[in-house]
Amino acid sequence: MTRILGISAFYHDSAAALVVDGEIVAAAQEERFTRKKHDFNFPVNAIRYCLEEGRIQPEDLDLVGFYDKPFTKFERLLETYLAFAPAGFPSFLKAMPLWLKQKLYLPRLIRQGLDGRYRKRVVFTEHHESHAASAFFPSPYDEAAILTLDGVGEWATASFGHGRGNRITLTHEMHFPHSVGLLYSAFTYFTGFKVNSGEYKLMGLAPYGEPRWADAILEKMVDVKPDGSIRLDLSYFNYCQGLTMTSKKFERFFGGPPRKPESPVTQREMDIAASIQQVTEEIMLRAGRHVHERTGMKNLCLAGGVALNCVGNGRLLREGPFDSVWIQPAAGDAGGALGAALFIWYQLLGNERIAGKPDGQRASLLGPRFSEEQIRAFLDGKGAKYRHFDDEDALCEHVAGMIASEKVIGWLQGRMEFGPRALGNRSILGDARSRKMQSVMNLKIKFRESFRPFAPIVLAERMGEYFTLGGHQDSPYMLLVAPVAESKRMAVRDGNLRGLDKLKVVRSEVPAITHVDHSARLQTVDEHRHGRTYRLMKAFERQTGCPVMINTSFNVRGEPIVCSPEHAYRCFMATNMDVLVLERFVLLKDEQPNAEKHELDEYLAQFALD
Ligand SMILES: [Fe+2]
Repeated sequence: MTRILGISAFYHDSAAALVVDGEIVAAAQEERFTRKKHDFNFPVNAIRYCLEEGRIQPEDLDLVGFYDKPFTKFERLLETYLAFAPAGFPSFLKAMPLWLKQKLYLPRLIRQGLDGRYRKRVVFTEHHESHAASAFFPSPYDEAAILTLDGVGEWATASFGHGRGNRITLTHEMHFPHSVGLLYSAFTYFTGFKVNSGEYKLMGLAPYGEPRWADAILEKMVDVKPDGSIRLDLSYFNYCQGLTMTSKKFERFFGGPPRKPESPVTQREMDIAASIQQVTEEIMLRAGRHVHERTGMKNLCLAGGVALNCVGNGRLLREGPFDSVWIQPAAGDAGGALGAALFIWYQLLGNERIAGKPDGQRASLLGPRFSEEQIRAFLDGKGAKYRHFDDEDALCEHVAGMIASEKVIGWLQGRMEFGPRALGNRSILGDARSRKMQSVMNLKIKFRESFRPFAPIVLAERMGEYFTLGGHQDSPYMLLVAPVAESKRMAVRDGNLRGLDKLKVVRSEVPAITHVDHSARLQTVDEHRHGRTYRLMKAFERQTGCPVMINTSFNVRGEPIVCSPEHAYRCFMATNMDVLVLERFVLLKDEQPNAEKHELDEYLAQFALD
């Protein structure tokens, strides 16, 4: 038996993954345990969990992989500093202590992190190899083109090549400072959102705006080549030498300074969002076409932070040349831990690979699970009032009925998801048909910005009725955005509405999950992968005829998605959620004896705004 531990750490989204004889046994992000979003510290808790799940000790590991090469990365920082000296000195000084203390002593740190009980080899895979491995090896394809689009690792910011059997070959790379990920992050910064975190908000904001700057961006800031590679005019940016992402010239271009975080979002930010989103989609489409031409493959595997741009992914699937697309659900750096471990098993050790069906990612349900005994003991300890259902059908009928009457449900089942999206095991669920649900969920449950859209889960067998996904595939990881089918839309006249006023219009039979441009970021749910969540949706369908529900992550703004029943209970008690379902235990908020003791402000204050 060969046990390989993969680790990513020290940049953002630290994680660990355990691969045993090629099977992904466990994978989790450190933030879920420490409750610090995007936690980048050495993932001691995630490692401990992975070893527990595999029932092994550190000394039982055969190999440990780390997701990038710290020395090469250090070289890049030094060279960038020298090229921009002395302008880069402040950012150089800021980065150095962490490098000198931690990153350059990684092998020692890793051994320490494993209690000094691991004495075998530590393998450092390249950043883009790790992303590419995480995209291809768990995919359902025997062979496929691979495209990684990222911020930056060592030097590479994007790469492509192909995977065949048990090998990946990356043939082309694009290098720092020219980076689609950093370009998008620069706009994230400028519109007042947090870099490496708020990119999702910028994407969600885009449909409210007009892409009136897209052409100018292409003309002045970014030269997009026919092959999708880019050259940035660096005078607009500041990330090579300064502590901000954008320069004064960037500000002049958009007629003013960056939006202050948490100040009102204006039409300017919406138009900027629409513009950069259009530019990014253009880059993704050109890169996709080029990679298709060069590799001749009919399937595509995607990873790297930009592969979380599910609007771009959806267009690549519908308008691009590939028959199907598979995207690593943990497309950001957390997934690098998994990629490093899989790379070692297949590519370094040369083990045979048989592509998994429907894929090898196991629904990405790779995190901790909690037994009913554990949950009962916890709830009794809290003095919570609950009802336990022995019969799952009765549980699903009951919960479906509450969803249909516009109750908001916290839903924790089975193993936690790996990747930033809640896929039905750590979710807040609601009725997609409800006209008030979008605003109720944003403002009273999640305490986040009112413009942010909600995503649907849909029974896989009825997806085609509601959404025009394109290709011949499903969307089990919520990484593809597709238009709501014409037949489900309502005739609306909203040509004169601008900005957030667009939210007031009911656009479809499922208004709570239909974004202002009639798009939706969907997850298809099937019985094989999603078990009880599927059966809950079947019950909802029986009662209402509707195969669609809202599925949003179980957390409030700034909080990592809940992991344990305790995290779920705390979030439930502090917010306006109506019902909490932990496995087969059901709690109603208005029945809880100590509901008033849980202070919302105190709860929210634990989490820095994201
Ligand atoms: Fe990355």
